[in-house]
This record gives sequence, C-alpha cells and structure tokens, in this order.
Amino acid sequence: MARAASGWLPAWPSSTLQSTESDPTAEAGGVASYHAPVFPAEVIEWMQPAEGKFIIDGTLGGGGHSELFLKAGATVLGVDRDPEALAHASKRLARFGERFSTWEGNHCEVAGDASIQMADGLLLDLGVSSHQLDSAERGFSFMREGPLDMRMGPSSPRSAAEVVNQWPEVDLLRILREYGEEKRARRIVAAIIERRAEKLFTTTLDLADCIEKAVGRQGRIHPATRTFQAIRMAVNEELESLQHALEAVPRLLKPGGRLLVITFHSLEDRMVKRFLKARSTEFLDNPAWAQPRPNPDCQFKLLARKAIAPTQAEVSINPRARSAKLRVASLLEHQS
Ligand SMILES: C[S@@+](CC[C@H](N)C(=O)[O-])C[C@H]1O[C@@H](n2cnc3c(N)ncnc32)[C@H](O)[C@@H]1O
Repeated sequence: MARAASGWLPAWPSSTLQSTESDPTAEAGGVASYHAPVFPAEVIEWMQPAEGKFIIDGTLGGGGHSELFLKAGATVLGVDRDPEALAHASKRLARFGERFSTWEGNHCEVAGDASIQMADGLLLDLGVSSHQLDSAERGFSFMREGPLDMRMGPSSPRSAAEVVNQWPEVDLLRILREYGEEKRARRIVAAIIERRAEKLFTTTLDLADCIEKAVGRQGRIHPATRTFQAIRMAVNEELESLQHALEAVPRLLKPGGRLLVITFHSLEDRMVKRFLKARSTEFLDNPAWAQPRPNPDCQFKLLARKAIAPTQAEVSINPRARSAKLRVASLLEHQS
C-alpha cells in the first residue's frame, strides 16, 4: 500500500539520524530512543483493543501505541505521511506478522481508499514525533543546524524555506499569531522580511538567530519556539488535515467504533472539542421553534465529557505529555 518515496529529503549530513539497524533498542521496541507514546494506559482503557478488532493508528510514528494494540491481540493499520516512521515501525512490529500493515500518506485521505475495511477504532496522536524533532536534517528544530524543511513527508505540500522566503508578510503574520500564538509576531515578521530581502534563509539556525536578534531572549523558552511551531503547522497543513480527518471518521469506523484524539495545541483541541460537540448534540433548539428538533448531524456519543489530562506521574517520566489532551467518542450504533 505504501508509495515509494525514498530520496524525497534533501541531502544533509546528519549525526542524529538513527537507522533502525544501529538503534540498539529497536529490537525491544526502540520506544525510548524514537518516541515515548503518551497516555499509554488511557489509550488502552478507551480503545479496548482485543483479538478480532481492527484498529487504524492514523499517526503511527514510532509505533508505540500500535504495539500496545497488537500486544492486546488487535489487527492494526499504521498510517503515517513519513516514510522514515513507516520503515522504523514496520521493522519494530514485524513480529506481529500479518496483523500489522502500513499505509503511507495523510491520515485524512485513508477514508478515500476503498480497499480499507471499516475499523473498530481510530487513534490520532497529533504533531511530530520526538525522532522527527531530534533529526537535524528534517529541519524541525531551532536547536540543531539543518535545512529549513519541516515536511513530515512527501505529501506535505511545501517546505519551511518556501514559507519563510516566499510567503507574503500578511500570511506570515497570520500564522505566527494564529498557529504560534506569538505576541511578538510583528517584530519577528519584520525582521524576517528585512533579512530575506538581503539574503534568503537556508538553515534552521539562521532563522532562529534572526528571531533571537529581533526579540531577545527572556526566560527558559527559546524565542524561536512559537515561530517554528507556526511554520511547521503551515508547512504540513496540520489544522486542515485534522478537520478533514474528523469529517472522514464516519466513513472509517463501524457503528460503535471508537475515536481517540490526542492533541498538544489549544487550536487542535478546540477543533476536536467543537466538532464532537456539534456531532454529539442530540437535539437543537431555537427560540423560533415550538420544540427542540433532532440534530441531523448527530453521529457520535461522547465517552468522556471533558478532555482527559495526563497524570503527574506520566508528566514526570514523559515531560512531552505536559500539554497533551485526550478526547474520546464513539460512532453511534444507529444514525438518524
Ligand atoms: C506524535 S507522533 C505519533 C507517535 C506514535 N503514537 C507513537 O506511539 O510512536 C505523530 C506522527 O504522526 C505523523 N503525522 C502527523 N500528522 C499526520 C497526518 N496528517 N497524516 C499522517 N501522518 C501524520 C507524524 O509524521 C508522526 O510520525
């Protein structure tokens, strides 16, 4: 099912790229080195993986969550737009034989593949993996010298260099404010525009230095953090993909099938919250109506009313879980 995509990344010398061949923990799962899955206990509790169940892991990454499903006896389709993640997880999960398969591409497009059967569960664990962040040659990190890339995979429509060097000022301002929630957006964008008129940006540290010079450094958080997050979200059209993926869920899940979404960004969580609220409200009311009317869009049942937060214990062993939120719902057995 996977498209061949080797060679889609620019050549870049890397000291951090971990091949599964040289990863000593790959045999045991490579969890610590590649990516530690968040909410492991809660994902099992709400997904209820078991023999005979088919689960789509829409964000395979290092395969940590998929491994939990497979160990519980389920059959898993691992989806990722990153060929490197698919290769790593395929090797790691090879011992589960035919119960594990992969699909390369954007998870919002899986529903369009008629060969994929309806699932008992869909997991979306959004954002990038620790491995992607740590791989200098992928260009996600403002701490490591690399090309201005930030594409999760070949299906990502543009590189970070295109956004930084070619996007109009107004669009840069919009993404920094909206996706990055960056209060100093105007100063940062002005510095980018001024600098790129002289010389285009080519590397991560080049951009990070320009941002630091523009706004200075205060506190422990690097001044380029929010700008890099905003550019990454624009490069990979992360919010658009999430919206399309949510709308496709009723075409992917069997009646009663479960949807679990893990977010790390308030905009993403708000999108999931609003979508599930609109699709789980049974009756709509309007002062002009004599009585409430059934909601024709009601397709889901909320399994937990509020977002689930990580425990202190999890955050202490996996600090990345700090900002994670989990929302869970099931597709209604009978749809009106
Ligand atoms: C946070 S990691 C998932 C980690 C995984 N749950 C684990 O246990 O190792 C997110 C992964 O999803 C992939 N991803 C993010 N958005 C995607 C999308 N729209 N379509 C397909 N894959 C996506 C990224 O490439 C990355 O490998």
